[in-house]
Amino acid sequence: MSVLFQPVKIGKLEVPNRFVRSATYDGCADKQGRVTAAQVSLFEDLAAGGTGLIVTGIAYVHESGRISAFQNSIADDACIDGLQQLTAAVHAKGVKIAVQLFHAGREAAGFLKTRNQVAAGPSAVEDDPYFKKKCTSLTQNEIEEIATAFGTAAKRARAAGFDAVQLHAAHAYLPAQFLSPWSNRRQDKWGGSLENRLRFHKTVYEQMRAAVGKDYPVLVKLGVRDGFEGGLGFDEGRRAAQMLAGWGFDALEISSGLRGGKYRETEFKTGINSPGREAYFRDWCRQIKQEVDVPVMMVGGLRSPGIMEEIINNGEADFIAISRPLIREPDLIVNWKSGDFRNPSCISCNKCLEALYQAQPLHCAAQKTQSRV
Ligand SMILES: Cc1cc2nc3c(=O)[nH]c(=O)nc-3n(C[C@H](O)[C@H](O)[C@H](O)COP(=O)(O)O)c2cc1C
Repeated sequence: MSVLFQPVKIGKLEVPNRFVRSATYDGCADKQGRVTAAQVSLFEDLAAGGTGLIVTGIAYVHESGRISAFQNSIADDACIDGLQQLTAAVHAKGVKIAVQLFHAGREAAGFLKTRNQVAAGPSAVEDDPYFKKKCTSLTQNEIEEIATAFGTAAKRARAAGFDAVQLHAAHAYLPAQFLSPWSNRRQDKWGGSLENRLRFHKTVYEQMRAAVGKDYPVLVKLGVRDGFEGGLGFDEGRRAAQMLAGWGFDALEISSGLRGGKYRETEFKTGINSPGREAYFRDWCRQIKQEVDVPVMMVGGLRSPGIMEEIINNGEADFIAISRPLIREPDLIVNWKSGDFRNPSCISCNKCLEALYQAQPLHCAAQKTQSRV
C-alpha cells in the first residue's frame, strides 16, 4: 500500500492516513454562528471521502475577531451541541476532526463595520498599502482577554468531541499580525524582538494547554513568511516554528503569513497546471521538518499523488494537507486508495473563494452554481 495510506500519530492521536483536509471556511453557519444541517452533510461527505484528519474552517473564539455573518462560533457554550453533531458525523466514518481556532484581529474590520464597531490589531499602521481599513491598537487587557478566549474555546472543542484544536496563526489574521514586524509596531512586551512578537502565541498556547490538558493535541497552522518585502522573513519564520514546537504544539502546518496584493503573494496561488508549480511551500516545509521533533503538514498546491509520495518518502513532511481539490471532489482520497491515481480536476482558479466573498456557501464555482440551503 502507498505510504500515503499509512496511519500516523500526532501525540497519542492516531490519524488513519496522511491526508489532512486543510482548514476551509464554508460560509454555511447560521447567523448565530451555529452548525447547520448543510455543514453536517458537507463534513459527512468529506469523511466518507477518506481524508484522515479534517480541519474545520475558521471558528471565532471572541466576537471581536469575527469575520463573517456565516462563520462558526466557538465563543460561547451554546455552540457545543451543534459542534457535537459535526464531530459525531465525522467519527461515524472513522475519521478524525480538529477545529480551527481563529481571531481575525484587524482583518475583522469589514464585518465589524456592519455593526458600527472598529477592529483592533497589534498596531494601527499608518498608510499601510496592504491594509486600508480603519483599525485601532489592542490594549494589554484586550490582548489578555483574547488569549483567555482561545483557552476557553479549546475547552469547548474538547467537550464537543473534537480530536484536536488547530490555532490559526497564518494568513494575515491576529497571531500572524503579531508575528509580522510589518503589522506589529508595538514597543511594549508584545512587540519588537521575535520573542516579544511571539508572546501572544505563547500566551495563547499556555491558555489552550491549561484548558485541555497535556495529552490533547494542540496544533498550529503557522505563516512563516509574509507575501511582500518588509514583512516577516523566512529566517524568523523558521525560528518561530522551532519555538512553537519547543513549547509543546503537537504538529505544525506550514503556510504563509500576511498577504500581498495578488494571489501569487498569498496562501492560495493559482495556475497550478504543471508539476513545477505544485507544492509551492515545499522548500519552507522541508527545512522546518528537519528542525522540529513534531509532525509537520505540508500545504499549498499539492495535486499529484506521485509528488506526495515523494515528499513523504523523502521525509519532507508527515502529512499532506489539501483544500481546494476537496471542494470539487470530496471523494478524491478514497478514489486514490482504490488505485485510481488521477490528479484532481480542480484548476485552482479561486472562484470558490470569490463566491464565498459574495456570501455564497462553499462550492466549486467553476463547476456549477449553488444556492444557500
Ligand atoms: C475557499 C477557501 C477557504 C479557505 N479557508 C481557510 C480557513 O478557514 N483557514 C485556513 O487556515 N485556511 C483556509 N484556506 C486556505 C487553505 O487551507 C489552504 O491553505 C490553501 O488553499 C492552499 O491549499 P490548496 O492549494 O490545497 O487549496 C482556504 C482556502 C480556500 C480556497
